[in-house]
Amino acid sequence: MTLDHYCVMGNPISHSRSPWIHSRFAELTGQAMVYDKREIPLDHFDRSVQAFIAEGGRGCNITVPFKFEAAALATHTSERARLAQACNVLTFKNGQILADNTDGIGLVNDIERNAGLPLKGLRLLLMGAGGAAAGVLGPLLHAQPAHISVANRTLSKATELVTCHQALALLQNTELLAHDLKGLEGNFDVVINATASSLGGHGVPASADVLMPGALAYDMMYGPGAQGFMDWARAHGAAARDGLGMLVEQAAEAFLIWRGVRPPSAQVLAELRKVLG
Ligand code: ATR
Repeated sequence: MTLDHYCVMGNPISHSRSPWIHSRFAELTGQAMVYDKREIPLDHFDRSVQAFIAEGGRGCNITVPFKFEAAALATHTSERARLAQACNVLTFKNGQILADNTDGIGLVNDIERNAGLPLKGLRLLLMGAGGAAAGVLGPLLHAQPAHISVANRTLSKATELVTCHQALALLQNTELLAHDLKGLEGNFDVVINATASSLGGHGVPASADVLMPGALAYDMMYGPGAQGFMDWARAHGAAARDGLGMLVEQAAEAFLIWRGVRPPSAQVLAELRKVLG
């Protein structure tokens, strides 16, 4: 029997934990599949996807820097991938390429289920307006918080992101505003870092006044990239969380799309934290 084949495509890819996560999901749910990682040359994405389909590949995860190209390649795009203008899951079915984006629902599930904090009615601050922020704003709105401020160093990008989500915000009864990061005011229950600021060694780009006492401060990165933000949050009385749970939960949603089975993601997250020490 040939096993159903999946992979993650990106560049670089050696660091990716997705093969480990999906292999664990497959073991725990008894799914007969293999999942590996492929480093794709920067100008070969389209060809690489077509080659994987020709080999019989069933689907793949897409990571940096191909999430935008993947969305453009699809024959069908989900509403959340369309809003994010980016895709982290491709499914190959009956000659079609289906694009979806599970990053945002992965974040929401990690906050609501794993951290135990329902977002409905809360005040949220989303810092950043690049690809990472765009990938999560729609699903954050679906969780029906009372308010979301999108704050970015370049205000025009925050305004653009807010404008294309305003119709959804109205439907969800969520107040959605764009801000500059400088002089940002207001207390927030949840502060999400979707900037690349710490990667550039610039520290946290906001004042600690944004943190309500006991707020949840969430960095969408994990490992050393998240440490500066987590230290800042703890030093100011917030509960800090890194993006490892988001990584596992976005994978769980992809697994559900491909296999029709929800894997035990909380267990796999606990195991992964142990593996990473
Ligand atoms: P990603 O896909 O990781 O979101 P991106 O699309 O390049 O990457 O977006 C990077 C985000 O980090 C942007 O919101 C960027 O702000 P600008 O739009 O003003 O460039 C933000 N960012 C990067 N370095 C930053 C810094 N030193 N301070 C504040 N924000 C920063």
